[in-house]
Amino acid sequence: MRKGDLDTPAVISDVEVLERNIERMADLAAKNGAAIRPHSKTHKTREIAQMQLQHGACGITVAKVSEAEVMIAEGFTDIMLANEVIGQAKVDRLLELAGQARLSVAIDSPLGVSQLGRAAKRTGTEISVFVDLDTGCGRCGVPAGSGEAVELAGEISRHRGLRLAGLMTYEGHVYKARSCDEVRLISDDVSRLVLQEINAFRAAGLEVEVLSAGSSVSAPYVAASPAVTEIRPGTYVFNDVTQLRLEAAGLEDCALSVLATVVSGPRNGVIVLDAGSKTLSSDPASSGYAFDYVGYGLVKGMPGARIAALNEEHAMVSVDSCDAKIQVGSRLELIPNHACAVVNLHDELVVVEGERVRDVWRVVGRGKSR
Ligand SMILES: Cc1ncc(COP(=O)(O)O)c(C=O)c1O
Repeated sequence: MRKGDLDTPAVISDVEVLERNIERMADLAAKNGAAIRPHSKTHKTREIAQMQLQHGACGITVAKVSEAEVMIAEGFTDIMLANEVIGQAKVDRLLELAGQARLSVAIDSPLGVSQLGRAAKRTGTEISVFVDLDTGCGRCGVPAGSGEAVELAGEISRHRGLRLAGLMTYEGHVYKARSCDEVRLISDDVSRLVLQEINAFRAAGLEVEVLSAGSSVSAPYVAASPAVTEIRPGTYVFNDVTQLRLEAAGLEDCALSVLATVVSGPRNGVIVLDAGSKTLSSDPASSGYAFDYVGYGLVKGMPGARIAALNEEHAMVSVDSCDAKIQVGSRLELIPNHACAVVNLHDELVVVEGERVRDVWRVVGRGKSR
């Protein structure tokens, strides 16, 4: 089958670009002496996680207990849940999994420690924990430099079933950068903060075995930090408009696209596609500076086109300033603003090699948000 024979909308991934992205990030980690534990929330597929391991990943990262359940069922044995797990039902499921795989989890509160510690004791299970450090993202984590991380590590040590694996941070605020220089400045600040925290741990007599950090954008900088032992990039496998805007990737590095058909128009300079918010998600591209992209994605090969509005099943694309001849039945390829959100909306990824359809991979982690 050829790409042109696919029914639409279809989420397609170019396997050569995908493999190149995986290889490049693995090389970057290796050159800097850092381990790589890619975040699987971007692709949620067995096949891509396997490719990442084949290229030297030490394990994978997930965000949810249900993602861990799926990935363990798919045969993965070394998983970091880089997120806080709160609530008895989830903690119980987590400990069940800890008996089946090498599993670690993030913690940023005394309640999180005591819930997990008590459950570990009750079930006689040991689980590794990372103290989550907020280095500026403003999401989860105890504030870096506040002394709270050392305090939390002290509480962890009072539970026999909990093993302190190290520190983790997610520097998601790098997506707010307005320039390449700012990406570097934010990343360097993160490296400084984690080094300072490691020193605070050492002063308290605590060893930080693993310091896990990183997103796709900051990876080149934090991987070079002597304090960081492991990076956890996710989006780099596919890239998207957000990565383009931050100059973390070029158009030739985008391995994921949505194939759509023009179902109406052109009328008043607008064409309508069969891919709406239920296909593309309505995520905006994170703020960036490189291009003046406004809209819900990028139309490949049509620089003047703008995905101006989405309904659930339709995209309204303004083509006023395009030379290309477009008519009902034409097919367009779209680069989404946020690849991870798109994949989670679909059951399968169609794998292509150039124009040839090579395979279909199941998005096994689709909708696993609990
Ligand atoms: C905790 C954590 N680690 C790593 C990542 C990967 O970051 P990116 O998608 O920028 O590569 C994310 C992304 O949301 C994350 O939340």
